[in-house]
Amino acid sequence: MDEPIVVMGICGSYDLDSANGRMLELILEECGNLGAETVVWDHGKRPLPLVGAEGSWDDSNVKDYQEMAVSADAYVLSSPEYHGTMSGVMKNSLDWLYSKHTSGKIFALVSTLGGQTSNNTLNHMRIAARWIHGWVIPEQVAVPHIKSAFDEDGELLSSDIKDRVLSISSSLIENTTKLRR
Ligand SMILES: Cc1cc2nc3c(=O)[nH]c(=O)nc-3n(C[C@H](O)[C@H](O)[C@H](O)COP(=O)(O)O)c2cc1C
Repeated sequence: MDEPIVVMGICGSYDLDSANGRMLELILEECGNLGAETVVWDHGKRPLPLVGAEGSWDDSNVKDYQEMAVSADAYVLSSPEYHGTMSGVMKNSLDWLYSKHTSGKIFALVSTLGGQTSNNTLNHMRIAARWIHGWVIPEQVAVPHIKSAFDEDGELLSSDIKDRVLSISSSLIENTTKLRR
């Protein structure tokens, strides 16, 4: 029998106790229901230095992060929109990945917004994922008006967005199964 698919979550907010951390949790949980193993990088506990900062090339967090990326078959990127694009945390997380870690693997994209829906962050992450030779699935999720998107138990209020969580997860697993050698 094939090994289970490993899906890695990468959060564009420092703290996993955030809207983007919660979006990752919901999608990774659904991927788990579909038979995948899931891992998530915790920037709050193990921050990545800025690429090029003193000591950054030998940083042990960076090495472990890259090893986790190598061990994964697929990725979920979830970023807040900051000034019309992905957060610096997400961009720096992607800057630490090269095609030798990610080539030929599947990416799924999520963005949260304080304001109304926009595809900017999703499109910008799509470009960056392409640059590290990832295959980005067409299903994607943007969560607008993030302050009122969840109830007090952390469940999404919009049934449309809940449906998108299900469809992005099943597409991620289906396409990873097809592409994985
Ligand atoms: C520096 C900064 C810039 C932001 N720029 C935007 C923006 O351009 N558009 C928008 O809708 N929300 C913007 N926001 C709101 C964030 O998208 C929102 O706080 C975030 O999605 C919440 O996710 P989190 O809980 O994971 O941090 C901005 C927030 C910050 C801190």
